[in-house]
Amino acid sequence: MDDALVAEALVRPGCRLGREVIVKRLTGSTNDDARALAESGAAHGTVVIAERQERGRGRLGRSWHSPEGRSLLFSVVLKEDLPREKVGLVTIAAGVAVARSLRDLCGIEAGIKWPNDVRVNGRKLAGILAEAAPGMEYVILGIGVNVNLKKEELAAEIRDTASSILIETEKNWDRARVFHSVMEHLERVFSKLERGEADAVLDAWCGLSEVMGRQVRVETPQGTFTGSVTGIRDDGALLIREPEGAEMAVMAGDVIIIGGREKGGQDASGP
Ligand code: BTN
Repeated sequence: MDDALVAEALVRPGCRLGREVIVKRLTGSTNDDARALAESGAAHGTVVIAERQERGRGRLGRSWHSPEGRSLLFSVVLKEDLPREKVGLVTIAAGVAVARSLRDLCGIEAGIKWPNDVRVNGRKLAGILAEAAPGMEYVILGIGVNVNLKKEELAAEIRDTASSILIETEKNWDRARVFHSVMEHLERVFSKLERGEADAVLDAWCGLSEVMGRQVRVETPQGTFTGSVTGIRDDGALLIREPEGAEMAVMAGDVIIIGGREKGGQDASGP
């Protein structure tokens, strides 16, 4: 591996997130590692990052695969000043941070597909998995970013629906640089939440959202619904107006975009 991750290059002295960084060559899931650390007293902002995961997981029980040394696979222990009862808002805020980082650092027109897919041109570049402790004492924020994967390194089943920063920009990226950019944006967006400015974060999400104002089909554990997306609630739930006019809130599920924006709808690549 030519750019192996080393803690000294990732640590963020004096910052709230990333003051302590643990690097693993191989692990099961960094979310599990971070949870164990949180349970044994790790400080707010501690990061576990791995070159490879054997049991990386995504939302809704799916798995998250990446070949060694090509991605950012990391988890952050969040213990302080966060709306822990609203773990969905942590996911939303992290999506804003990752999309902004891909835009600012890499010049990629990244958008967000609810709740946690950071995408460009309909292809997923990054995913977010926030998991709360049963007693809500902490939240583990797991982030996977496809950085230097070539198309042929993407698993066959996601080759048409996933991408990487390398594929989009046609160049290799220093993963430590991408990590620092994501962490800076995370710190910025979480300090907004801490100051009680959740509305600004939700507005930013709407500006980056691929689904705002779109006709969608939502597949949830409770059934499938269609309607147009009207917004997002402060617990991260997606708000949908059904054809009969009723508004409903969806907490978990998959969104499939089936139609364009209604007149007056917001543009996904907005501010
Ligand atoms: C998703 O899009 O479904 C979420 C994917 C989250 C993947 C990251 S990789 C680092 C962390 N550890 C895990 O096991 N999952 C998250």
